[in-house]
Amino acid sequence: MQHVDERLITPGSVDEDAQYEAGLRPRTLDEYIGQDRLRDNLQVSIEAARGRREALDHVLLYGPPGLGKTTLAYVIGNELGVPVRATAGPVIERPGDLAGMLTDLQEHAVLFIDEIHRMSPAIEEILYPAMEDYELDIVIGQGPGARSVKVPLQRFTLIGATTRAGLLTSPLRARFGIVHRLDFYTHKDIEEIVRRSARILGVPLDNDAAAEIARRARGTPRIANRLLRRVRDYAQVRADGRITGDVAKSAMVLLEVDDNGFDEVDRRLLRTIIDKFSGGPVGVNSLAAAINEEKDAIEDIYEPFLIQAGFLDRTPRGRVATPRAYEYFGLAAPGRDSRLW
Ligand code: ADE
Repeated sequence: MQHVDERLITPGSVDEDAQYEAGLRPRTLDEYIGQDRLRDNLQVSIEAARGRREALDHVLLYGPPGLGKTTLAYVIGNELGVPVRATAGPVIERPGDLAGMLTDLQEHAVLFIDEIHRMSPAIEEILYPAMEDYELDIVIGQGPGARSVKVPLQRFTLIGATTRAGLLTSPLRARFGIVHRLDFYTHKDIEEIVRRSARILGVPLDNDAAAEIARRARGTPRIANRLLRRVRDYAQVRADGRITGDVAKSAMVLLEVDDNGFDEVDRRLLRTIIDKFSGGPVGVNSLAAAINEEKDAIEDIYEPFLIQAGFLDRTPRGRVATPRAYEYFGLAAPGRDSRLW
């Protein structure tokens, strides 16, 4: 099996990402490429809130990693002309941590909570009155003498991000007035993002090179930008600095990046369905056990892309490898009738 450098194609969060993405991230809705409907909707909501001099309604953004939820949170803050305070569900350990952040917010500011589904229940409860009534309910003392005091907060906007809206508890989900899903980007949009990033980085890039990079980026800007960086290195060291289509292709060969942008887990997942489960259907729990991966990682990271790219189907009876998946491995797909679609 071909070895692939997973850091290049797995849409996880790597420290290096944060640094190098910073300069490439769009700062305004105008600069933002793709997700057209979401952008149009946000533009209306933001302009309306600004016009009324109100805080924007709370926003929930969901979708696979690397599609720009964090970027959008900063774009929204920028368009509203307010500061953005960012944190993440798993790092808020005590209720006091969140209460402190909330009381520090200035009027109409944005609080961005990434992985909001990973907050503990005790912390989540603080958010309910904060989101709904802009106040904190604080219990002072213990036992019979305990009393509750309400601390008013500035009107603020909570932007929550999660990989799947279904992971949120329903009371929390119900408190978001604006809910949007981010989809994988089209080829055209990724190409445009690659061209824009190349301009910002000051590296000459031919159109067919942008297409080569986009094809392997799994519809994900973070991966596209990461590949662009690596191809730029290759162009500098092994060519004259210009990223032509041929340079991009050769760089991908050296990087061992698969033509579809698949990584080792994608291939193992598909191959296991084909070999161990006769092409499916197979339940996600059995699949997770068979390939020794977390069920959540399969559902949040791998499966959405494989489904979108047409290699995997999700049926009521489980996951099924499509004819395209067989083709990818050079195998003959069993006839439709012989399998339980
Ligand atoms: N860089 C990363 N995501 C982007 C996007 N959606 N538009 C423009 N540049 C980007």
